[in-house]
Amino acid sequence: MNTQPKHVAIIMDGNGRWAQKLGKKRVVGHSRGAKTVREIVEEAVRHQIEYLTLFAFSKENWNRPKDEVNILMKLLVSSLKKEFRRLTENNIKLCAVGDLNTLPELVKEELLFVIEKTKNNSGMVLTLALNYGGKEEIVAAVKAISIKVKNSIISPEKVDESTINEHLYTRNLPPVDLLIRTSGEERISNFLLWHIAYAELYFTKTLWPDFTKEDLQKALLNYGKRERRFGKTSEQLTF
Ligand code: IPE
Ligand code: IPE
Ligand code: MG
Repeated sequence: MNTQPKHVAIIMDGNGRWAQKLGKKRVVGHSRGAKTVREIVEEAVRHQIEYLTLFAFSKENWNRPKDEVNILMKLLVSSLKKEFRRLTENNIKLCAVGDLNTLPELVKEELLFVIEKTKNNSGMVLTLALNYGGKEEIVAAVKAISIKVKNSIISPEKVDESTINEHLYTRNLPPVDLLIRTSGEERISNFLLWHIAYAELYFTKTLWPDFTKEDLQKALLNYGKRERRFGKTSEQLTF
């Protein structure tokens, strides 16, 4: 039996299909999805999850129709404004990972404002993956390490897992224990490639706007029943 996962990551998928099923525009699904974020964040706090990381916008999502991208960005700004007080009430520290520099100015401003205002909160660390791509993150780390090697700051022989870890956007996060993806898709979509190396994967057909507190509880219960062997045998874990 496992204890509670320390780090839960979620690929919040299915907003568009949720709206389309109701004959509505995809963006209606994104607004409803934002409400789910609020409920799930608060439920994660109740379960004393230490780290919750949410995939909010991928590098690849720029390839969506311009209108949808614009609305997603606007929704992000308004959610940050709206949720700021609640984050503080729940003692949540907000962080972000991804290529933040190329986000629209307004998003960057609001994001950095909330990150700054919540930086001393000591409760759950809520990380938004924004303009994030796992391969790109690794490329950026390799580049940064190469420059240090070239300038003799790091010797090539000393490069190990922790060197790579320290140069990732996600350097302050522990490994993911439980990765949840909603909507029935069973893929990673370039999310947290390094940090999910030994994560337990949980896929549910539920679309993100329909994902409830009870669904999160179910995922946590399921995680609790798994045996994480990390290469060992079952017997080694028992004795
Ligand atoms: C997830 O829902 C939200 C984002 C990727 C921003 P989708 O918009 O991918 O919804 P589906 O997968 O098309 O239903
Ligand atoms: C992954 O969902 C990105 C987010 C949840 C933000 P997508 O809907 O973009 O992924 P694919 O295209 O189905 O792989
Ligand atoms: Mg999708």
